[in-house]
Amino acid sequence: MENRKIAVVGFGYIGSVIGSVLADRGYTVMGVEPNQRIVDAIAQGRSPFAEPGLEELVKKGREAGRLFVGKDPSVVADCKTIVITVGTPLSGDHDPDLSQIRAAAEMIAPYVCHGALVMLKSTVPPNTTEGVVGQVLADKKVELAFCPERLAEGKAIGEFTAIPVVVGGVTESATKRAAAFWREALGVEVIEVGNARAAEMVKLADNLWIDLNIALAGELAKVADRLNIDVLDVIRAANSLPKGTGNVNILIPSVGVGGYCLTKDPWFVHRLGKNLGLELLIPPASRNVNDSMPTYSVELIKSFLQGRGKPTAKTKVAVMGIAFKNNTGDCRFTPTKPVIEALQAEGYVLQICDPWVEEHDIQLVTELPVSKDVEDTIRDADCVAFLAGHKQFHDIPIKQIVELANPGALIFDGRMFFSKEKIREMESVGLHYKGVGR
Ligand SMILES: NC(=O)c1ccc[n+]([C@@H]2O[C@H](COP(=O)([O-])OP(=O)(O)OC[C@H]3O[C@@H](n4cnc5c(N)ncnc54)[C@H](O)[C@@H]3O)[C@@H](O)[C@H]2O)c1
Repeated sequence: MENRKIAVVGFGYIGSVIGSVLADRGYTVMGVEPNQRIVDAIAQGRSPFAEPGLEELVKKGREAGRLFVGKDPSVVADCKTIVITVGTPLSGDHDPDLSQIRAAAEMIAPYVCHGALVMLKSTVPPNTTEGVVGQVLADKKVELAFCPERLAEGKAIGEFTAIPVVVGGVTESATKRAAAFWREALGVEVIEVGNARAAEMVKLADNLWIDLNIALAGELAKVADRLNIDVLDVIRAANSLPKGTGNVNILIPSVGVGGYCLTKDPWFVHRLGKNLGLELLIPPASRNVNDSMPTYSVELIKSFLQGRGKPTAKTKVAVMGIAFKNNTGDCRFTPTKPVIEALQAEGYVLQICDPWVEEHDIQLVTELPVSKDVEDTIRDADCVAFLAGHKQFHDIPIKQIVELANPGALIFDGRMFFSKEKIREMESVGLHYKGVGR
């Protein structure tokens, strides 16, 4: 067994989850992170991010004396295993910005011990592990591998400890060593691929598939709206068809696709294609369709309210949820931002609620006040627009909505996927329902 001290370089969303789970599994985790807010939160035994279960793991890790995060990169010196999880945003012109990867590699280079296993987990274009990290650490005798992180926020801990880990080393021995590490650490299935470049491509393939599939669902929803049929009926039935090694598996439409990954990873593929002399058509198509959904959702709300003769300046819209998806506080590139902006531009009076989002993230979305009080937000609304399907919203009884909202209010379903029974219940008490494609 490798020594049980692990460095996690970059303690953002992904680093916090990985570091806290590994500490819980008995490893001593040394995090390196420049953001003081994150360093302070971990030192105080608090989760730096609103992610179910993370706070408990951070607290446990601190109490057990196995979770440390600071700014000093020299802590990597006595770690035989180093995981890099820094950010990889888009730069202008939809290019991958790999500056955090290079900076992290340069920062740890003076301290990395000979023989260490360095694993990159940030999402990157093929050849970054070898061409960027490998180049910076060229005079160190380290083994290098890429292991994509494929968890989804909102259920990050469950997924990190259950889904198969893909590993591809720069050398075959790095692949074997990385595979052995994750088998031992998480006890999950490990899929070895030919090299680091193939592993880098796996993550991009996954995210391009997801983005494209949601775009497909979005366009089906637009068609369903015109035909006055329920897109979820169509998708459920369509997905019963066996195809390939599984079934057709169309995902679900919504108010839009946001977050840190799906909004950029298809562009990584597009740029990769260009670099290889290929004009790939799918990445921009899926991005453009998904980017159209917030405006489309606002049109649905507007056409209902106008149809009821509601003058915008006196019409109250309760915006339920500003995070980019259900049960997370993450607001990066959230589709709720363009929805809020468009509703504001139309002149609607907005009352906004999100029980998950912390103060410092609200400003990413809006300058309007954002309450944590669900009831207050719904009170006197002419439209209750559910833009994130947080569990607190699922807990609101329909009879409470009807008591709080204005008579005949519209329930706009951007992500709750209310059952037919709930929709019938709403309609039986005089509320109106409109979903995306429903
Ligand atoms: N968020 C997700 O759901 C998710 C899922 C799978 C993969 N990923 C990928 O994982 C990577 C990290 O994503 P994230 O959401 O955690 O991003 P993040 O921005 O929350 O975290 C990155 C962290 O790295 C820190 N950092 C920057 N430069 C550093 C340096 N030189 N040394 C140490 N730390 C440094 C930043 O301060 C930040 O806290 C990205 O490549 C992303 O595409 C993210």
